Amino acid sequence: MSNWESTFKTKTIDPENLLDKYDKYAEDFDEHVKNELCGTGENTPVVVTAKVFSETVPSQDSMKILDAGSGTGEQGEQLVKYGYKNIEITAFDPSEGMLNVAKKRNIYSEFIQGFLPDSGLASDYFDAVICVGTFTPGHAPAESLRELVRITKKGGYIVYSIRKHFYEDLDSRFQEVEAELTKANKWKMIAKREDEYLPAQNIKGYYFSFQVLD
Ligand SMILES: C[S@@+](CC[C@H](N)C(=O)[O-])C[C@H]1O[C@@H](n2cnc3c(N)ncnc32)[C@H](O)[C@@H]1O
Repeated sequence: MSNWESTFKTKTIDPENLLDKYDKYAEDFDEHVKNELCGTGENTPVVVTAKVFSETVPSQDSMKILDAGSGTGEQGEQLVKYGYKNIEITAFDPSEGMLNVAKKRNIYSEFIQGFLPDSGLASDYFDAVICVGTFTPGHAPAESLRELVRITKKGGYIVYSIRKHFYEDLDSRFQEVEAELTKANKWKMIAKREDEYLPAQNIKGYYFSFQVLD
């Protein structure tokens, strides 16, 4: 098993060491994801998520967007490529090393170090949230979905991706929390797509877009 697999692929990741591992991994993260996990560098999770975002979230002036678990900020680059130019995008991540790489891109307007689900962010604040690779075994738990709904404006959007096998593992509780929020009329699903996630690892993903309701 490679270093990456032993650290990030299993459910048994040690949360105590997660930050230390991301801080050390930060400088190599982008190249590793593109070249080793995704093969060709196309259809990476950030690219597919940006596509789903652009297909479901109308662009508006002065949008406030949260990148939850932003890591090195490749997602911000993709949003700009997909035409979201007038955005105030906040990078939120627990790893200082990952945030430091994101800072070099000059895309994000704010950097907040923190963890989901207890983000400490204001309620009803963001026009949209995008979240990629953060709902990964040993990372942010399913309860984080409620937090994303809390901090998003009514009528705003939450777009996220998750590995297919992890979503389908009922122990991860993503299906359960998603369904509870739907039943309580907190949000409605706009899109669900199955697509490549980490093709070189033979891992598929689901890509979701939800709209937060009044
Ligand atoms: C696989 S990386 C994905 C980074 C980025 N979204 C991307 O796709 O390029 C996962 C990120 O989630 C962050 N993370 C881990 N646990 C988290 C939590 N509880 N809340 C928010 N972010 C978390 C990590 O620090 C890391 O930067």
